[in-house]
Amino acid sequence: MAEVVAETERLRLRTWDFEDRAGFDRLLNTPAVLRWLGGPADEAFSNAAFDRIDLYQREFGFTFWIVERKEDGATLGFCGLKRANAPGGEKFEGDVEIGWRLREDAWGKGYAKEAAIKCLDLAFDLFGAPHVVAVTSLNNLPSQGLMIRLGMTRREDLDFIDKRFPADSDINPQIVFRIDASDWPAARAAAR
Ligand SMILES: CC(C)(COP(=O)(O)OP(=O)(O)OC[C@H]1O[C@@H](n2cnc3c(N)ncnc32)[C@H](O)[C@@H]1OP(=O)(O)O)[C@@H](O)C(=O)NCCC(=O)NCCS
Repeated sequence: MAEVVAETERLRLRTWDFEDRAGFDRLLNTPAVLRWLGGPADEAFSNAAFDRIDLYQREFGFTFWIVERKEDGATLGFCGLKRANAPGGEKFEGDVEIGWRLREDAWGKGYAKEAAIKCLDLAFDLFGAPHVVAVTSLNNLPSQGLMIRLGMTRREDLDFIDKRFPADSDINPQIVFRIDASDWPAARAAAR
């Protein structure tokens, strides 16, 4: 049974039920949403990803939670935290990492930022992270824009090649943004 992790003005962050998987795939397994994430996934790949999301919740107490709109209960996507584990990103392996993915018709409304602010609150206040990283493709400008709007700082020293994709694919290189716990209160105030 899903548990509500946190609420914002317009959104609810909650854990996953097994029944969420099919609906999530239907809404988010699209070329636009997955443009910088390797493209639409087959069933086995999706299921492995959902299994990892469940495992993170059990292992760490946090994961990429479902983002639900309070007004109508619609599933918009996910936003949450995990421990960094990208193949090739060993320099920051194990750091608390924030991530987000919303269905296309939920972009451009500030939902991702609203959910991400709450996730950073949880990372620092509840889970005691000293810093949080975010990872994206150099070419994923919407995701980088969100990192910047949250007050995160590009760390070029942490750039890496994600080994799941060819080094010369447009998904690589991957870049890393970071924010320290001590910088979050001021960044949060500015991000509102
Ligand atoms: C990355 C992603 C989550 C960003 O979503 P987003 O909606 O652009 O981000 P935000 O929530 O910060 O919203 C900002 C936009 O909402 C607009 N907006 C509208 N109402 C708003 C409000 N009440 N508050 C804040 N912004 C609002 C802003 O003006 C801005 O619009 P713009 O992009 O035209 O400048 C989204 O593009 C996505 O899901 N992409 C596919 C998956 C993906 O690549 N994930 C990242 C992998 S690393």
